[in-house]
Amino acid sequence: MSSGKAIRTTQANTSPGMIDLAIGHPSPSLLPVELIRRAAEQRLATDFTPYLQYGYEPGDGHFRTALADFLTRHYARQTRESELFVSGGASQALDLFCTVCTKPGDTVFVEEPTYFLALRIFQDHRLRIVGLPTDEGGLIIEALEERLDSLRPVFLYTVPTHQNPSGASLPSDRRRRLVELSREKDFLIVADEVYHLLTYGEKAPPALASFLGEGTVLSLGSFSKILAPGLRLGWVQASPRLLRPLAECGMLDSGGGLNPFTSSLVLSAIQSGMLDAHLERLRGEYGRRLQAMKAAIDDCLAGKVEFSPPGGGFFFWLRLSDGRDSATLVEAAKRHKTSFVPGAAFSAGGGLRDRLRLSFSYHPPEALQEGVRRLAKGLS
Ligand SMILES: Cc1ncc(COP(=O)(O)O)c(C=O)c1O
Repeated sequence: MSSGKAIRTTQANTSPGMIDLAIGHPSPSLLPVELIRRAAEQRLATDFTPYLQYGYEPGDGHFRTALADFLTRHYARQTRESELFVSGGASQALDLFCTVCTKPGDTVFVEEPTYFLALRIFQDHRLRIVGLPTDEGGLIIEALEERLDSLRPVFLYTVPTHQNPSGASLPSDRRRRLVELSREKDFLIVADEVYHLLTYGEKAPPALASFLGEGTVLSLGSFSKILAPGLRLGWVQASPRLLRPLAECGMLDSGGGLNPFTSSLVLSAIQSGMLDAHLERLRGEYGRRLQAMKAAIDDCLAGKVEFSPPGGGFFFWLRLSDGRDSATLVEAAKRHKTSFVPGAAFSAGGGLRDRLRLSFSYHPPEALQEGVRRLAKGLS
């Protein structure tokens, strides 16, 4: 019997007529239904049995070999299968890393701003979260050095390329210095590189995965943004020594390697070239959306906000020129049938109140422009 309540399937809950610029999910129109159908047909036509069995703990070897080849091409660095661990997405990898490598009360350094839902995961693990200042080039290395004089984190969490929310990309020289510091001062770097392949303009600096040889870097990747979040599939790239505790944890001893079934479909997508073709399509379309949103902000919000346009990823990060607390404007935006995420969500210490995040991934270009027009009315 129906209760009359809508049955929910997806995480984002949009109401009719709303252009919600808070939603940072991939566009529904870019979810690769046909690609998944063809990958599944190819896979089911072969010997499928191993992929329905408990999987090898670090992840299926055929899949990791194909992924190593994919990353060798796209990250321009020779990647080996032994440097890859298959995860259920970047969030799951982060949670598993915290489970095996931290204890309550340990310190984690994060960027200020940082990916807000990573903060939730660190809170679940009762970590002490310390925010470090950033500028338009991401983490300020001198500020990190100063903090390291009095405090030593177990790890530093960074989104080095097209950051969520700021869009900033850490320049090469800062990446190098960050890795040097991690060796000198003995802490790990967990680099969340889920946007690295979504670069639409100038080439991004080398992924932090390029520094694996230094032995302090774990790079998280995900198929959520480049294929579909519903696959719940990603990877951790690190030296075999750093990956071992993840693969040897009790959860995998009991349940086997993560997502062998989904891995087998993505294996087909990589081997057939469908993933490369899809990535090209995404870069083109998201690049157009970025430009559409930038043009709308320039037109409708000139003088009201300041920002540096991103070179990839999903987000614009705006500062309100009049210094207002953006959280106080959410209701006004909603009255005009749009929304955004207030800046304080991205702060470990409740700061960044004059900032707000807009996403350009979810809606098509015309809707983004209309959303920004509505926002301008809400902010006036
Ligand atoms: C920086 C960052 N990391 C991780 C995630 C979630 O990734 P996954 O779906 O692989 O868990 C997101 C999604 O918005 C993100 O922006």
